[in-house]
Amino acid sequence: MNITNEHLLKESSLHSKQITNDTLGEGKLIEGDTLSVLSKVDDDLINVGITSPPYNKQEKQKGWLVKNVVYDVYKDVVPEPEYQENQVNVLDEIFRVTAPGGSFFYNHKIRWDRGNMYHPMDWLRKTMWTVKQEIIWDRMIAGNIRGWRFWQVEERIYWLYKPIDNQLIGKELRSCDAKMTSIWRGVPER
Ligand SMILES: C[S@@+](CC[C@H](N)C(=O)[O-])C[C@H]1O[C@@H](n2cnc3c(N)ncnc32)[C@H](O)[C@@H]1O
Repeated sequence: MNITNEHLLKESSLHSKQITNDTLGEGKLIEGDTLSVLSKVDDDLINVGITSPPYNKQEKQKGWLVKNVVYDVYKDVVPEPEYQENQVNVLDEIFRVTAPGGSFFYNHKIRWDRGNMYHPMDWLRKTMWTVKQEIIWDRMIAGNIRGWRFWQVEERIYWLYKPIDNQLIGKELRSCDAKMTSIWRGVPER
């Protein structure tokens, strides 16, 4: 989609709580703070969503292989407990706006800080979502090439599911879709 002013909605121009199907029309990009924008979205509105959140990477220097990514208006440096609490709050808001039977794909990775390992499941279990599957994304390239441990070439994609009437399993996939396997291989865009 070509993004023009006609497609762009500024969070500040939205007054009432409700972003509904009518507000979104045939495709809109809403610019604003995640939690604040989500609070204006109606319940059970979205069927499927996807995000690559900030990782709280502390903006450390990378090795020679991959450039360090620094965001424009956001500093990816917060105390880890605060970061995880924010992720839970965002994911629970996304759960609220997702329709029962809907899914959300959440991309993340295992991180280490001073020898402590942080696994995305540490906070995903604190959300309202049912974790349907952990997909391994084999990026085939390491972001950090220091030798403290084996090169980490994978990220994770969590397929999160909002059950209908508490039926956690949900609908069976078509066999052609189930054959996709739980390892997705592809080099990220650079
Ligand atoms: C891992 S990046 C994802 C980038 C995006 N998927 C892309 O391909 O360009 C995380 C993004 O979340 C944005 N971000 C961080 N905190 C935010 C917040 N509170 N509200 C809105 N965006 C935020 C950052 O600026 C950054 O662009």
